[in-house]
Amino acid sequence: MSQVLVASNRGPVSFALSGEGDLTMRRGGGGLVSGLASVTGPGGPDVLWVCAALGDADRAAARQAPEGRLDRAGHDTGGAAVRMLDIPAATFHRAYNAVANSTLWFVHHLLYDTPRAPHFDARARRDWQSYEAYNAAFADALARDAEPGAKAVIQDYHLSLAPALLRERRPDLRIAHFSHTPWAPPEYFALLPDDVGAAVLEGVLGADHAGFLTERWAAAFLDCCEALLPGAKVDRHARTVTRAGHVTRVGVHGLGVDGAGLRARAAEPDAAAHAEALRAQVGGRRLIVRIDRTELSKNIVRGLAAYREMLANHPEWRGRVVHLAFAYPSRHDLPEYREYTAAVQRVAGEIVDEFGTPDWEPLILQVNDDYPRSLAAYGLADVLLVNPIRDGMNLVAKEGPVLSRAGCALVLSREAGAAAELADDAVMVNPYDVSQTAEALHQALLMPHDVRAERCARLAAAATALPPQRWFADQLAALD
Ligand code: G6P
Repeated sequence: MSQVLVASNRGPVSFALSGEGDLTMRRGGGGLVSGLASVTGPGGPDVLWVCAALGDADRAAARQAPEGRLDRAGHDTGGAAVRMLDIPAATFHRAYNAVANSTLWFVHHLLYDTPRAPHFDARARRDWQSYEAYNAAFADALARDAEPGAKAVIQDYHLSLAPALLRERRPDLRIAHFSHTPWAPPEYFALLPDDVGAAVLEGVLGADHAGFLTERWAAAFLDCCEALLPGAKVDRHARTVTRAGHVTRVGVHGLGVDGAGLRARAAEPDAAAHAEALRAQVGGRRLIVRIDRTELSKNIVRGLAAYREMLANHPEWRGRVVHLAFAYPSRHDLPEYREYTAAVQRVAGEIVDEFGTPDWEPLILQVNDDYPRSLAAYGLADVLLVNPIRDGMNLVAKEGPVLSRAGCALVLSREAGAAAELADDAVMVNPYDVSQTAEALHQALLMPHDVRAERCARLAAAATALPPQRWFADQLAALD
């Protein structure tokens, strides 16, 4: 069985320094770890996961590991050995913050508005060079560690150049790239400087197989290749792109949740204790839940505005409903994210001031990350609000129905990748239309219990139809 290499910016584990100066390891989350666990183990391939060291503690762990490899990280990594790349801090910062998260993330999620559209100036050029260096560091490590004929599966927009760089170094490997984000349409992608845009497309086309979460994102990628990359031959029927004699197959692999694993985790005592505390806080009222990273694409401010408009237009809900909004901190090195977090807190405060009474808190905003508490909230929700302005998939929309006890109604943005699988049983909204979202929340609260439960059961079935195990195995099979 051929060796499998995984590459991603954020790895399966991270390290922290204890007060005594000892390194402690923490497990990361995510579908990739569960996906990997299905192919590793007795008789499975040898798996090495290459990721970036994300802070000083990770860097120290990388330096201490024999030959830079953590071989005994065990089940916390889905059974993979881990190599953390010690990339110079300034290079990492420019590649991760300035290019990946400020530029490429913004392009794929259509987050720029005209006054804030980027200036691709000399400084941006320097950032871009760091992104090239960061991608080259991954390609070097993969090329060095790969056995002949190994499969390399490279993840996401941080590493869009790595497939082509790896192919140059090791033409014998079979290479896949997977995009967890949406892909921008050509007229928007074209705001990147021509050479930068072409390099991103050529980088991904270095792979034998380029995977996307939905048909829509795969089609946008093909559109970009056709419109913006001279010499690229796109065959939409066969879903291939041929350039300079190399053929890249484009595939769609939806990602769902591992129902049994998720339910087992939610049944553990920490989640149960949170459920009890939340139940007491909500006090028998109806419950609208949202759970996101505090991320511009998640559209939290418009979601809160919709809740406010619902309370204004339908006063019968005042005192009878609570909105629980979990908005975890994310990417706070970037000013846009810090400002957004402040905006979320400001609007939440306004709603509490406007509608709150001594015995009713209309909105509870929590900004600290607490996974077992999120699992508990899913279990109690009457309505789950998922309204991103654009999202590769969105697993909250899938986890909620799986864990819902009473059967929750899902209010879902038509711009989330998950809409392709869940639209029939969700209440669909245009994420920019606050009034429509307010009305959708009202309708979701009014939905008769049996209808809600039936729809929720179908949502849960759809959400578990493509578990991470299958998603990962399909990516590997696509390389055979
Ligand atoms: C998205 C991306 C992932 C990323 C995650 C968290 O889901 O597709 O690649 O890891 O956001 O973002 P962060 O910047 O904290 O890694």
